[in-house]
Amino acid sequence: MSCCPDRTNNKSRGVCMVVIGFPGSESLAKMVARRSRQKYSRISLRQFPDGESHLKFDACVKNQKVILVQSLFRPNEKILDLLFAAHTARDLGAKSVWLVAPYMAYMRQDKRFFSGECVSVRVISKLFSVFDKVITIDPHLHRIHSLNEIFVRGVRLSANSLLAEHIRKEYREATIIGPDEESFQWARKIADSIGAKAIVLRKKRFSSEKVKIRICERVDFGNRPVVIVDDIISTGHTMIETVKEAKRLGAKSVICMCVHGIFADGADRRLMKAGAKSVICTNTIPGRLALIDVAGLISKAL
Ligand code: R5P
Repeated sequence: MSCCPDRTNNKSRGVCMVVIGFPGSESLAKMVARRSRQKYSRISLRQFPDGESHLKFDACVKNQKVILVQSLFRPNEKILDLLFAAHTARDLGAKSVWLVAPYMAYMRQDKRFFSGECVSVRVISKLFSVFDKVITIDPHLHRIHSLNEIFVRGVRLSANSLLAEHIRKEYREATIIGPDEESFQWARKIADSIGAKAIVLRKKRFSSEKVKIRICERVDFGNRPVVIVDDIISTGHTMIETVKEAKRLGAKSVICMCVHGIFADGADRRLMKAGAKSVICTNTIPGRLALIDVAGLISKAL
């Protein structure tokens, strides 16, 4: 018997899909399912006393396109469960298994910076080859230019237009700052789309804890807001140094925006202390500052 008796929403498209939310990503997964008018299901996960995982699908996945939604911040505790789920779904007869990881981990470790180091992104690539498709948002691709160099069928979405729309509505005549050459790709696209000025700063990173930011051009912000845009705020050091530099140059109102708000060790509070007026990010990672919703973006890609 088919596991998919109710094909009412899917019949015309000929697909039978179930969206499954993993712990921490349930509310985004539910919104994605609702927006794409597909079934939602949770997955039962618990730990045995020895710390091993026990995983069980609550929904029937046979003959279904199975969409696993899990954002990979604090990734280590999540990756194994995702692999268990993908292999189990196949075992149970799923038609295909997709991973939606709105935040994809390990993208920054894309080369051997010091001898003996693991090039983590390559290992992730091999592990995730179990998925028929991997969808992610603004992955940190620096030395690797295309997501397809990592995942055979990788889909790279961008939250740029959502960030741009937010800036256009909330911060009129803003100047957009990219803290470094890498982030300038985001800053410039966003600025261009709303007709704003974009400037890039120069970053020197000494360690994950120590960065120096310097401006390369003269600017007069006047009374206009300054919006600093980056893909990730992790330890917050990049943003904090950028806020300080913007303030040193006379910026009166500095807003920090990013796609992925990791905010390790209270980085959001430290940013406010450094002089940011507000900090805002998308909900690729859940949190109190995750006010820009990416559910629509994901549902369009399914
Ligand atoms: C680096 O190139 C990225 O674009 C971000 O600037 C960086 O990952 C932010 O890290 P953190 O918050 O730890 O300075």
